Amino acid sequence: MLSLARIASSRIAIRSIISRSFSISSINNSDHLFVHRDSSYNNPSIKFKFNPENIAVAQKILAKYPPQYKKAALIPLLDLAQRQNGFTSIGVMNYIAEFLELPPMRVYEVATFYTMFNREPVGKYFLQVCGTTPCQLCGSGKIFEAVEKHLGIKVGQTTSDGTFTLVEVECAGACVNAPVMAINDDYYEDLTPEITVKLLDSLKAGKIPAPGPQQSRKTCQPATGLTSLTSEPTGPGFMVRSDL
Ligand code: FES
Repeated sequence: MLSLARIASSRIAIRSIISRSFSISSINNSDHLFVHRDSSYNNPSIKFKFNPENIAVAQKILAKYPPQYKKAALIPLLDLAQRQNGFTSIGVMNYIAEFLELPPMRVYEVATFYTMFNREPVGKYFLQVCGTTPCQLCGSGKIFEAVEKHLGIKVGQTTSDGTFTLVEVECAGACVNAPVMAINDDYYEDLTPEITVKLLDSLKAGKIPAPGPQQSRKTCQPATGLTSLTSEPTGPGFMVRSDL
């Protein structure tokens, strides 16, 4: 026989299980990183081939490696193919496998490991906003908000006209100029929400803004002005005896 105290405590436990609240985080689309599902625009029957210009570029890339190590050209060739095709489709991966005489799985492994390979189509301007700690401390949250509000998309989405895709990336390696956003191959640094909106408007108007720091400093000089190397460097012979 269960004692009254045990019955009471088990009821309390059951009640606490029933009323336990679950916290749900936003959906993580990381399965996009490695899972391929056939779709109307990305399936093995949609073949890819280098165009004649890229065949020539691919041959130049291959020539950098000894013939027995041509698989070392896998990443540059995948990159070249992605630039031609717009994204790294299954057709692209299969073609590169054939091109390098590799089992397709070897190509899938690489393409799914490196996030530089987009296995879904992206917009004409691929916006990669850095969300890692230094950028976050310098206001990347506001940059995300500005892009999302201005373009009417969320992280991971593409605008309906296919012009912009927004993604969040881990450290872009330009923390000293945080917050940072890469637009295609260029970095735009020292961003503010206002500057970000201006950049997007220029792109919409068909103008490519100058990359690099978007505020007054040059490259990655101290944001508060130079603290060293503030005068002309001394020439050869400085402080050396004249008879030497
Ligand atoms: S944290 Fe953003 S570039 Fe390093």
